[in-house]
Amino acid sequence: MRKKLVILSGAGMSAESGIPTFRDMGGMWEKYDVTEVASPQAWKQNPQLVLDFYNQRRKKLLESHPNKGHIIISELEKYFDVYVVTQNVDDLHERAGSSNILHLHGELRKVRSTKYPNLIYELPGWELKLGDLCDKGAQLRPHIVWFGESVDKITDAQQIVKVADILVVVGTSLNVYPAAGLVHFAPKNIPIYVIDPTKPTLVSENNITFITEKASVGLEKLKEMLIT
Ligand code: APR
Repeated sequence: MRKKLVILSGAGMSAESGIPTFRDMGGMWEKYDVTEVASPQAWKQNPQLVLDFYNQRRKKLLESHPNKGHIIISELEKYFDVYVVTQNVDDLHERAGSSNILHLHGELRKVRSTKYPNLIYELPGWELKLGDLCDKGAQLRPHIVWFGESVDKITDAQQIVKVADILVVVGTSLNVYPAAGLVHFAPKNIPIYVIDPTKPTLVSENNITFITEKASVGLEKLKEMLIT
């Protein structure tokens, strides 16, 4: 029976692909006020500013590529049943070839109806404009979980972590709940590996191994540890 390897990834996973993180030095939230670009209030007050924020990120994503870390995670599917639970809204895990991916905070390349949330579309290109409407005539919005909105997939994510044989936390500061709380749903005493150049806020337990490296280096080390 193949072991279940669950990856909980955050913005640091995509840092080596040139996509800025949020809370590092020079991160996204140093340049933008979250409440002005990533909340329902922002959308109501200034939808154009919100659209511009996500259009710029989408444009950057189209010029970015999966890094070695993403590739290693997809390669681990040869040895384990791998489940990726990501806070990232980019599609780099998909483009690296991972098969089981759950996006907790939405997907940058998708848009959805403001009036019929089940109407979700792949956005061709990078630009979503005011006046771009769903099939039923309502304005389209980024398919992103904004601050203050519910993380509808958190229960599915908890179920995945609950049956993990190995948990790998990579590139997340574990600052944002409920995603950050997922670590506590892992079965007792399974091995947990935390890959991050700086130690995120996590109580040290004897089943947690910190690999203080960037994602591509840390995942290479982890792969050697897991499959030799
Ligand atoms: N490799 C691995 N980890 C890295 C790298 C790297 N090359 N560079 C930075 N990191 C680490 C940082 O040390 C930090 O712990 O990645 C983490 C990034 O943390 P955040 O910027 O807080 O990103 P994240 O944890 O994914 O944020 C969670 O907050 O803003 C919301 O919805 C947004 O999904 C996001 C959520």
